[in-house]
Amino acid sequence: MKTKRKVILAPSLLSADFSKLLQEIKDVARAGVKWLHVDVMDGHFVPNITIGPLVVKALRPKTKMTLDCHLMVLRPDKWIEPFAAAGADVITIHAEAARQNGMDLRVQLARIRALGCKAGVSINPATTVEEIAPVLDAVDLVLIMSVNPGFGGQAFIEAVVPKIGQLAAMRGDRKFLIEIDGGIGVQNAGMVARAGCDVLVAGAAVFGAKNRAKAIKAILKECN
Ligand code: DX5
Ligand code: ZN
Repeated sequence: MKTKRKVILAPSLLSADFSKLLQEIKDVARAGVKWLHVDVMDGHFVPNITIGPLVVKALRPKTKMTLDCHLMVLRPDKWIEPFAAAGADVITIHAEAARQNGMDLRVQLARIRALGCKAGVSINPATTVEEIAPVLDAVDLVLIMSVNPGFGGQAFIEAVVPKIGQLAAMRGDRKFLIEIDGGIGVQNAGMVARAGCDVLVAGAAVFGAKNRAKAIKAILKECN
């Protein structure tokens, strides 16, 4: 009987209050969270508010949590080294960036692994899983964006849900994790977990909650 994977909840710092970032991280760590989702934007997708390598470098010595860095940037090749050097654990890059730049996704993913980080590939809501099928053997994580790139607090896009099952079916005996990113809360966490997601990113649903520990517990209760 296949053991049910324990779902991982990764609060997205982009929805945190940057002036209280360390307190926000302490709050979620105290609630048993093991991953932090670190969003990075370069203005390509949205006006460039971002958490850069310097912030990751500053956070690294203060937390043992997995720093799950989501690079929503047009030139991932420019950011991979600085994030790896800063102490990122997972570095996820967008298939659309490689497509727009004529960049070889596999080469960039191999660079991430060569630097000792886990490699992730992400797709926007409008991108099909077929586009990343050729690199599924080269990744440790696939990130399905369930909102358009933004600052958190956007509505969940139901249309991406079938991608979870498609990726789970395509996984075979490969080990990559399936992550859903955006618009996740108690209202849909159980559904995406049952569909096969391993990692759920929740920003506003956690950092926007009055009681974060309670919000985290409620989301995990829906999944595990
Ligand atoms: C969207 C980011 C997500 C987002 C998640 O561009 O990739 O990580 O911050 O935040 P919520 O859960 O509030 O949608
Ligand atoms: Zn993200």
